[in-house]
Amino acid sequence: PNAAVPARLLPVAELHLHIEGTLQPELIFALAERNGITLPYADLDELRQRYEFTDLQSFLDLYYANMAVLQTEEDFAAMTHAYLERAAAAGVRHAEIMLDPQAHLSRGISLETCVNGVASVLATSMEDFGMSTILIAAFLRDLPEESALEVLDALLAMDAPIGAIGLDSAEVGNPPAKFERLYARAREAGLRLTAHAGEEGPASYVVEALDVLGVERIDHGIRCMDDADLVERLVDERIPLTVCPLSNVRLRTVDTLADHPLPAMLAAGLNVSVNSDDPAYFGGYVDDNFAQLEAVFELSEFDKARLAANSIHSSFASEERKAELL
Ligand code: ADE
Ligand code: ZN
Repeated sequence: PNAAVPARLLPVAELHLHIEGTLQPELIFALAERNGITLPYADLDELRQRYEFTDLQSFLDLYYANMAVLQTEEDFAAMTHAYLERAAAAGVRHAEIMLDPQAHLSRGISLETCVNGVASVLATSMEDFGMSTILIAAFLRDLPEESALEVLDALLAMDAPIGAIGLDSAEVGNPPAKFERLYARAREAGLRLTAHAGEEGPASYVVEALDVLGVERIDHGIRCMDDADLVERLVDERIPLTVCPLSNVRLRTVDTLADHPLPAMLAAGLNVSVNSDDPAYFGGYVDDNFAQLEAVFELSEFDKARLAANSIHSSFASEERKAELL
């Protein structure tokens, strides 16, 4: 009689998520219409045909271009609400959400518009979706550090509700050390620290993010597998790596999901979690990432429970909140 009871989703934390990467094609068209913006695609199908990427930069070009439809606080709020609703259905009980303020400032959108639009929805995420949330201001590593410093100062001056900073965009040629002063200033301001490293860039960028920036967490980090000494250090220090399997396949940093290093990373004892990165662009949310991993690998119940527990332990949530979720 209980055959219809659905499988219970493990509560997980999503730690690596770009809110602008949750803009679904349908919402892109709806916002374009609402704001009188002409898109360079005739319809949804034509837009979807652009979702075939050759590397990180080919994705970033489309990701930044589509942000043109985000004009008002309400637009940022609508995007954020849609993500929370979908993530809650995926079993996400805590989300740490990156926003790229510089990508909006450069289009003439104010810091208040983008930050307040996202933050207004995060403020009631617990009541609305049973999900705790933390906003992470992410800085574009292909811009000068001076720009990042100005934006961080402006965020602090407006008392923006951010809990951490991150570092994203084009990795190769923009090593972590370029942002040493930014991370020092954020640490002084009491913010938590994470950075993308070892996605397309080399294992040495992971080392640099730890040693020069002092980050607590590494976003992606899969290239650490090229350096056995680094793997040993990451295991010893329990450094969290927020891995994004479907993203890595779509951006061609691995050939196929079957070639993904996640099982090897688990076997090595690394503190890895499963995240969606830019789910509207890469074919799935956290639940889709888990489902596709399970279709390709023999993940044991133990492995799945460990991935879920790692995500919660590795979050910037309070110890009380972590205890509730474990
Ligand atoms: N910005 C959005 N998604 C990103 C990714 N996967 N890597 C670097 N920058 C990004
Ligand atoms: Zn990312």
